[in-house]
Amino acid sequence: MKKRIAILPGDGIGPEVMQGAVRVLQAISDCFQHDFIFEEGLIGGAAIDECGNPLPDTTLDLCSKSDAILLGAVGGPKWEATSQTIRPEQGLLRIRKELGLFANLRPVCAYEPLIHASTLKKEVIEHVDLLIVRELTGGLYFGKPSERRGDNKELAVDTLVYNIQEIERVVDKAFQLARKRRKKLTSVDKANVLESSRMWREVVNRLSANYPDVQVEHMLVDSASMQLIYRPEQFDVIVTENLFGDILSDEASMITGSLGMLPSASLRSDAVGLYEPVHGSAPDIAGKNLANPLGMVLSVALMLKFSFGLDKEASIIEESVMKVLNDGFHTGDLHLQQGTRVSTTKMVNKIIDSINENQAIS
Ligand code: NAD
Ligand code: IPM
Ligand code: MN
Repeated sequence: MKKRIAILPGDGIGPEVMQGAVRVLQAISDCFQHDFIFEEGLIGGAAIDECGNPLPDTTLDLCSKSDAILLGAVGGPKWEATSQTIRPEQGLLRIRKELGLFANLRPVCAYEPLIHASTLKKEVIEHVDLLIVRELTGGLYFGKPSERRGDNKELAVDTLVYNIQEIERVVDKAFQLARKRRKKLTSVDKANVLESSRMWREVVNRLSANYPDVQVEHMLVDSASMQLIYRPEQFDVIVTENLFGDILSDEASMITGSLGMLPSASLRSDAVGLYEPVHGSAPDIAGKNLANPLGMVLSVALMLKFSFGLDKEASIIEESVMKVLNDGFHTGDLHLQQGTRVSTTKMVNKIIDSINENQAIS
């Protein structure tokens, strides 16, 4: 299969984990004789440094022509001053918006070999297998006005706005996903306070008539954040507004033991998607070969599955990650008493070895 993949490494640990992703994909293409064409583009701080724009037109063109996009992470202290008007994160928000990637899927499950890396008790997390569906192109991140106001700029405004179609399409996507899983959908909102949440709730209730086989519940976001660490196994699919989904997914990552474990897929109605780990550029460990590459590598598996329909190849990556974790290898972000702590590149080497072994057997 021939596919064009845009590679956007970004900043901090982005390029380190991206290198791992590309090497894993090369191993997969060698095993299965696929023709993956990798084309690199600038985004984030790296793009600001090079051309003063966090999302240059050349990168957007590249993404528009590609079958899928892989993104590392953007941002870092160099571009962080509150006075800065051009910011790396704007590149990420714009690419999501320009490409219409409204549904961000963030799966979270407990990995048996990592159970003791979590700060939560084994019995709380061991059966967790949930999926956060985060609305990605609306809500507080994109509402206008968003600005400082007045001569002294002593008033700041952000706006939470949704139109009904934006809610319908992401909720419908979440229902479809729930139908293929354990058929439970939890819609998370703040309907006791926010008008947009009340509209959100109405949409969920109306669309639920199309999915009589899916059990629906509504949960307020403050309570949901508590339930997520109290009894996380109760959740199957969670659908929620952009900012709520951002926050809840970082919280949920601790079920796995590290933010570095979580992959994500940002999708629209056709097969094109953007795949990135949930974590950021981790400036505290950047450039040290310490980053956990698994969130990025598991995002590659999501790309193979969702954008290319290569389910077997995706499964081999996921199985290889499990094998390597079962063999005790892990990066330093996972606080485990046992096993072997390895670097980013060593972790990737182990995964590639496992992919090759898997293929040699079959
Ligand atoms: P972060 O996710 O970068 O890091 C939070 C903590 O988790 C840090 O201690 C970091 O070392 C650790 N961590 C994250 N990913 C890891 C990995 N793969 N392996 C090992 N440890 C990992 O969040 P932050 O520190 O709040 O933000 C840093 C920068 O990243 C900011 O500029 C922020 O805007 C940006 N950011 C970007 C994205 C993205 O590009 N999608 C996501 C979140 C944050
Ligand atoms: C994420 C990040 C981004 C977000 C930032 C960097 C803009 O936190 O992808 O989760 O808030 O969406
Ligand atoms: Mn985030």
